[in-house]
Amino acid sequence: MLPTPTGTALQQNSAMADTHPEARAQALRALLHHHAHRYHVLDAPEVPDAEYDRLFQELQALEGAHPGLLTPDSPTQRVGGRVLEGFAPVRHAMPMLSIRTETDTTTAGAMAFDQRVRRELELSVDAEPVEYAAELKFDGLAINLRYEQGVLVQAATRGDGETGEDVTQNIRTIGQIPLRLQGTGVPDVLEVRGEVFMRRDHFEALNQRQRDKGEKTYINPRNTAAGAVRQLDPAITAQRPLSFFAYGLGETKGWAQPPTHSATLDALAALGLPVSADRAVVHGAAALAQFQQAMGAKRDGLPFDIDGVVYKVNRIDLQKRLGFVSREPRWAVAHKYPAQEQMTRLNDIEVQVGRTGKLTPVAKLEPVFVGGTTVSNATLHNVFELRRKGVRVGDTVIVRRAGDVIPEVVGRVVAQPGPRQPYVPNYRPPATCPVCGSAVLREKGGMDHRCTGGLFCAAQRKQAVLHFAGRRAMDIEGLGDKLVDQLVDGGVIRTLPDLYKLGLSSLVALERMADKSARNVVAALDASKTTTLARFLYALGIRHVGETTAKDLARYFGGIDALMDAHMDALLQVSDVGPVVAQSIHTFFGQPHNREVVEQLRAAGISWPEDDGDVANLPSQTLAGKTLVLTGTLPTMSRDEAKALIEAAGGKVAGSVSRKTSYVVAGAEAGSKLDKARELSVPVLDEEGLKQLLVRAV
Ligand code: IVH
Repeated sequence: MLPTPTGTALQQNSAMADTHPEARAQALRALLHHHAHRYHVLDAPEVPDAEYDRLFQELQALEGAHPGLLTPDSPTQRVGGRVLEGFAPVRHAMPMLSIRTETDTTTAGAMAFDQRVRRELELSVDAEPVEYAAELKFDGLAINLRYEQGVLVQAATRGDGETGEDVTQNIRTIGQIPLRLQGTGVPDVLEVRGEVFMRRDHFEALNQRQRDKGEKTYINPRNTAAGAVRQLDPAITAQRPLSFFAYGLGETKGWAQPPTHSATLDALAALGLPVSADRAVVHGAAALAQFQQAMGAKRDGLPFDIDGVVYKVNRIDLQKRLGFVSREPRWAVAHKYPAQEQMTRLNDIEVQVGRTGKLTPVAKLEPVFVGGTTVSNATLHNVFELRRKGVRVGDTVIVRRAGDVIPEVVGRVVAQPGPRQPYVPNYRPPATCPVCGSAVLREKGGMDHRCTGGLFCAAQRKQAVLHFAGRRAMDIEGLGDKLVDQLVDGGVIRTLPDLYKLGLSSLVALERMADKSARNVVAALDASKTTTLARFLYALGIRHVGETTAKDLARYFGGIDALMDAHMDALLQVSDVGPVVAQSIHTFFGQPHNREVVEQLRAAGISWPEDDGDVANLPSQTLAGKTLVLTGTLPTMSRDEAKALIEAAGGKVAGSVSRKTSYVVAGAEAGSKLDKARELSVPVLDEEGLKQLLVRAV
């Protein structure tokens, strides 16, 4: 029996740090066993990976410093989890090993690895740089696929590295994995190793379906993928869209393996296996570090989660010479990026009032370093989401911060093993707005509670000003949170046009406002007056009018007067404008004070080119009226670039494929949108095809 840890993992982690090494090692082993069981066997982890890694590394360090403490059952002595009852055990023909993993955000890690390799290979200082294959570290679950005479006969999880679980039925549901290899030169036996994962968009869609059904949402793509693969009912697995990338080999027979790792992956791709395009063959440590940086910059834009990069010595003969040390190859290393999930204590829940009056419960957290910065606030979305997650003040929660996305609380850490206490929420949305005291209403059927104070509410006014000044709206640099707080609280700004009355003297009078910054703000205000109709419409902050709708409206009406006077039927003619959006626009311009705001802003000097929306007259607008959908990663263009080019040619970019879609532009890793396009016979283009379309459009 494993000792059952008591108290929260957080407490155990810090409280015992200075106890006797032997006691600490024992406690760490018990904790790690416990968490490994939750993770691998029950598919119900209690702590984020980063916490497990931290405990693991602490134990490793402790055992390193006191070799006498090492026990044969130490979690550091095994590779993975345990075999689930219900899946037949599979003894791997070749053990599935792990690689040395280091958390490294500097270039030093690449140099240290390269030096180790060069030393082991006894290369002299002036020898050629070593050739490496650099690839992504996919954040999923390792799988071994066994093909005999080209047919998929078995798929197994890693298990403890020696024995895994037979998950063949479940793996067969992954459309990307060929059931039969293609091409010539199919080996007698080929074991392919790779990672099963869930794309982020598929994960979001799955969670949306859960929300629609009022069911529990999943915490992250990785756990969801692992859970799906280890489902006892393959029909359930089939409903969880999974993906796969191959990154290596197990046993092979009757195959002339290419002489390098990169060529091996090419060969696997030729046999019909999915291999990531984000990989490179590089020489020397500096190039490895460069790869790590480039992928780090790309990380948040990828359609799937990665947790680092992997460097491998490219030549197979050199890999053989380097061999293994304690179950890890000397020829490979993983360098992890900072974790995007961490756990911390939820100290309080505050209510924030947004631009449209929406009340958002915001988690006040014990500051924690996650995704590269210290986070002390995170969104809890809304009261229903919060209840679904069962989060309460005082809980230890998991916080996620990925890229520029607002940090969020994804769930609570189930601190105590054993039966759960009934959930009694300790947060309720307030009946009146905490900022202005107006009544709070919940829209019929909606998830959100809203303050009804409108621009009377200082919080809504501040957000309206910040939105107006935003980069994608009027782009007024220097008009940030702090300044807007002062301007609104001090009564200097009551309505948007007041902004353009701001003079140097009123700015300099404010706290912490240097002469130079004040001048910059005045200049930015001045510069913002020359804009486009679409930006101006977006900046007004009309509910349901985002950037795309603003562009559509500008294009359709060409000028603001026609739009302000438009009837419902005219508004409904605009592409993608439905009754809710049309009503919102109609109501907005139906209110005299809003029309007055527009008049005053124009009187303040805001202007845009007259023919701004009148695109039909421009010769370069031959994509006008066309709707395109982008999916997957294009070889040379970013999604934003492609979108900008399409829009410049008068086209529209939509998020989902329908019969009205003119073209789908598909790149690597294209997913369900591509399937949908085929289903509806919508023409599919690659990047080259898009470029041709654009050339014709010019
Ligand atoms: S190579 C003997 N390459 O990271 C080398 N592993 O321990 C075997 N992983 O759980 C691993 N992406 O499933 C390799 N490009 C990649 C990988 C990768 C993700 C996972 C693997 C294992 C862990 C490494």
